[in-house]
Amino acid sequence: MGEWWKKQVVYQIYPRSFCDSNGDGIGDIQGIISKLDYLKDLGITCIWICPMYKSPMADNGYDISDYYAIQDDYGTMQDLEELIAEAKQRNIGILMDLVINHTSDEHAWFKDAIANPNSKYRNYYIFKKGVDGHAPTNWRSVFGGSVWEKVPGEDMYYYHAFAKKQPDLNWENPEMRHEIYNMINWWLEKGIAGFRVDAINFIKKDQRWCDGEVDGADGLSNCFQFSRNREGIEEFFKELRHETFDKHDCLTVAEAVGVPYDQLGAFIGKDGCFSMMFDFNYSNLDVTPNEEWYPEQDWTIKDYKEHLFASQIEVNKIGWSAAFHENHDMPRSLARLIKNPAERTPKAAKLLGALLMFLKATPYIYEGEEIGMVNNERTSIDQFDDISSKSQYERAQLEGYSPEEALRFVNRRSRDNTRSPMCWDDSVYAGFSSVKPWLMMNEKSKEINVEKEIHDSNSVLSFYKQLIALRQKNVDLIVDGTFKALETSDSVVAYARTLDNETLICMNNMHNAEETIDLDGDYEVLLSNDTVVNNDNQYTLSGWQTLVLKKSEK
Ligand code: GLC
Ligand code: CA
Repeated sequence: MGEWWKKQVVYQIYPRSFCDSNGDGIGDIQGIISKLDYLKDLGITCIWICPMYKSPMADNGYDISDYYAIQDDYGTMQDLEELIAEAKQRNIGILMDLVINHTSDEHAWFKDAIANPNSKYRNYYIFKKGVDGHAPTNWRSVFGGSVWEKVPGEDMYYYHAFAKKQPDLNWENPEMRHEIYNMINWWLEKGIAGFRVDAINFIKKDQRWCDGEVDGADGLSNCFQFSRNREGIEEFFKELRHETFDKHDCLTVAEAVGVPYDQLGAFIGKDGCFSMMFDFNYSNLDVTPNEEWYPEQDWTIKDYKEHLFASQIEVNKIGWSAAFHENHDMPRSLARLIKNPAERTPKAAKLLGALLMFLKATPYIYEGEEIGMVNNERTSIDQFDDISSKSQYERAQLEGYSPEEALRFVNRRSRDNTRSPMCWDDSVYAGFSSVKPWLMMNEKSKEINVEKEIHDSNSVLSFYKQLIALRQKNVDLIVDGTFKALETSDSVVAYARTLDNETLICMNNMHNAEETIDLDGDYEVLLSNDTVVNNDNQYTLSGWQTLVLKKSEK
């Protein structure tokens, strides 16, 4: 089979927000099954679905209370087996989300651990004694507040890098690790195609447990420096791979924010753990290095281009990458990448699709991206569901911003922007559900929806279909060809892909003014989102025009 996973086009589903089959306002597995033909027609070959395991939903499923059971809201294990089989019939693989840095505090292991000081499960998690009546260290958790939560009635604390309902597992404990490996193998034996592996660069903690420099008005110190990309993590990765992934021909994609390029080997090198990884170095330009949403970051398309191209070059030196513009933790890319709201048009959405599709990487498309969905403005913090929106709202005010400013930051970056229900048609609940959905509908659902685009050959959706088909037709060139940045003006992002005698060029004019680009030799036009203007191989691109070209030399 070789490295079949390089040739995939992956579609990410947020199960709560994709399609509700039984009218309770929450997306579910039968809803996903009902849309498999739509996905097949789009041309994608794998689906990554965010967690569907049993969960109290403190972080929408990233807090798992039972790895072997499906959340009632989503359906049953039988539904899931049906989904795997139905997808397989259409040659679509299912990737589950694998959340093994932490569990829910309602997982049976943790419940026993917290109730009983002598429980063997205390060592499945990280419990530490207090120091002089306070928490063991001053580290701040990702969702705000200390990483330590006090055990009632004891001078003991447990560790959570994320929310307090997400206690971290103790990877130093081999017994715990083997229980996790058994679970992974159990799922792979069910016939899934692989996993997206959540927050995996957090599993090794700095064992010195010392305080960090205070970096906020809350008197705490960001935990990333102690709990992310730590030395020694490669030992865990080796064992994980050997005990699980190596036994199956699966696709694994690591979510690993902030990995320096000289440390990619453990993740995706020849002996690395995963098939590929998401590199956030080019997608997080709008947040601080500590991933906070304020103050607003100053960056340009030139910066974006430099980061994206550096990622292509550096990641491909070591292994394979997973390219993306959107996921369930980010705002919509039209808003993130285009500063002027008037320029967030269907034309620009097509450009973003083209920019992604011909990179040397496996592309990941997030539900709704293929129809050009946009952010949703909210007027009060109460309208948000996302746990990080609430904590960033608080943190920003603690750092001296006004409630209005804090709300602006949250609106811009909230994870609810991509989590609002998928828009299938122009009915009241956009064909997502027959009742009011669990999260506010997108206010543009009447204009931007699948039904409107599916029969329009000029739509963003039709353009995505053409892009995916073109990628798959040229897949050897995309996978094995070289990547080269083209020298252009600052606002043009253009690259060439070459294999043997074939060259594909993808040129993207990412601002609202004309640009000209000279090319050597005659090219054939594969696709564009506007009329192609070519005078003797000098191309004039209109604002937000994308142009995909190819030539074959004899
Ligand atoms: C990852 C997920 C995110 C979640 C976090 C904790 O970053 O993508 O949604 O909140 O891990 O599991
Ligand atoms: Ca439902």
